[in-house]
Amino acid sequence: MCGIIGYLGPHQASPIIIEALRRLEYRGYDSAGIATLDNGTLNRRRTSGRINNLADSLVQEPIRGKIGIGHTRWATHGLPNEQNAHPHNSCSISVVHNGIIENFKQIKENLLTQGYEFSSETDTEVVPILVQSFIDRNAKPIEAVHQAMKVLQGQFALCFLFAGEDDVIIVARQGSPLVIGHDQDAMFVASDALGLAGLTDNITYLEDGDSAIISQQELIIFDVNQKPVSRSKTIVSIDSAVNPKGNYKHFMLKEIHEQPESISRALESLFQSGQLNDQTVDQICQQPINWVNLIGCGTAYYACQIASYWFEKLIKIPARAEIASEFRYRNAVIKPDDLSIFVSQSGETADTLAALRYARDCHSNNLSILNNPACSMERESQRALSIHAGFEFSVASTKAFTSQLTVLLSLGLIIGYRKGTVTHEEFSTIKSDLFELPKLVDAVIGLRDDIIKIAEFISDCPAVIFIGRGLMYPTSLEGALKLKEVTYIHAEGIAAGELKHGPIALVDKTVPTVVLAPSNDLFVKTISNLKEIRARGGPVILLTDSEGLVQAGDDTNFALTLPKINPLLTPILYTVPLQLLAYFTATKKGLDVDKPRHLAKSVTVE
Ligand code: G6P
Repeated sequence: MCGIIGYLGPHQASPIIIEALRRLEYRGYDSAGIATLDNGTLNRRRTSGRINNLADSLVQEPIRGKIGIGHTRWATHGLPNEQNAHPHNSCSISVVHNGIIENFKQIKENLLTQGYEFSSETDTEVVPILVQSFIDRNAKPIEAVHQAMKVLQGQFALCFLFAGEDDVIIVARQGSPLVIGHDQDAMFVASDALGLAGLTDNITYLEDGDSAIISQQELIIFDVNQKPVSRSKTIVSIDSAVNPKGNYKHFMLKEIHEQPESISRALESLFQSGQLNDQTVDQICQQPINWVNLIGCGTAYYACQIASYWFEKLIKIPARAEIASEFRYRNAVIKPDDLSIFVSQSGETADTLAALRYARDCHSNNLSILNNPACSMERESQRALSIHAGFEFSVASTKAFTSQLTVLLSLGLIIGYRKGTVTHEEFSTIKSDLFELPKLVDAVIGLRDDIIKIAEFISDCPAVIFIGRGLMYPTSLEGALKLKEVTYIHAEGIAAGELKHGPIALVDKTVPTVVLAPSNDLFVKTISNLKEIRARGGPVILLTDSEGLVQAGDDTNFALTLPKINPLLTPILYTVPLQLLAYFTATKKGLDVDKPRHLAKSVTVE
């Protein structure tokens, strides 16, 4: 959430910062800004809207300087306008911030009584003015930042320039991630390594409470006690993140199409050449597990919900899915013999990270299922598994979700097999069905033309209902979320059995229902719900297999026939047409699919 970039080197800073900000735009895109230092003087430019507005403004009127900081904003406090855009300045300081300063009101009141003035509605503006207040009392820049860190509460990644200090960037982090990049003759700062793709792959990850003085000659890092500390450099391969859209119009479509390969990679990582192949999974299987907690946010939470069904079925132990932002605050009872699984594409989501810390405090065995390499959750978890989906740029998650599901199902299967709740025969059948999945996902992607026709129909509808039973219920929640995220059409996922307990009142001829009904043991019941909707004049879009289509008859407005598949795997396969439906509906409405309004990919604030 909010992208931060810093540059210090031999070249003009602003073009480098703009390119890096474009790579970080998925973190927020309601306004952007840049500040540089040139011969000791601070220059600043800010614009509302996308990075392109800032880039255009800099083309018309460039700002000079070989040291600079940049920001792309996801607004928390204050409207997304130029006045609230970062960098925020005091008379000799410029700062960009990711996070929330929770005690900004008290700090602001205090600074106002001292005569300092403010010009924005943001929480961030207290930072440069607070630091300025220490500078005004003769503190050196790093001392002033350290003093401010003792006052600031909440989460922050901060990157500062100081007037007159043309060779120094100062950074500080608490809660929000921040990395430093090293090149032969330049230094970089970024809110995540992706921002540095194409610039350097030599990265130092700052730890919580760290601060640093970055200059061409040296890098001095201070720990949470503000004592010098050494942090290792890591080589992070992020080259693939440069120009990654290929021939696709949007990342979302590209990433939907990548799913046959990303699912294969997830499977290969666990069952290389048909063998079980993971030490982490081995270690988990050796532990007693009394209960499984599955925790995440957004799409990752729906992966948790689906996995809770799988784990109960395959391992025969209670499994519950929890929304991280609820779990972390409700004093959940978790025990050392519980396995707490944290699912996160980015590995940086503030609530999921806090929930992981809570589980660690309860001494619960924990495992994170992650995509982004070298993230905070990877460093803080007892164990971690990668889903190997590759960089996901689209704000609406697609390939990460199906890879999370693939890993979670494989994990449940392996644990169940090792613990004796899955027979050898069941294990072999499900495993070989999993390996068939990429081919079937490819076939479903081939249904594109049929899906476009449905998208044209629903693009004019005010709301869409998604229903399913069993594993198709949480799948319907994900389908509804995808539609909401990129089309802004109100959508609800509903357990089909709950329909007549209230939601059926929404049904009329303008509100279609997407019915997820593979031919399984719940099929007949779901089709009864379909009939109830038709009886009330509601349009129906049925997703089923050829067997289901014959049984359902032709009382539908649209029917999409998917390949018949092992019922356990249906959430993965049935998600793909829902992703395409959301995508094509959004493009029909002419929306910017990769940058849906108000959303950001990596949510590093609560
Ligand atoms: C944001 C994204 C969602 C994502 C959720 C959790 O809301 O827009 O696509 O599912 O965060 O993110 P995580 O990185 O923890 O999976």
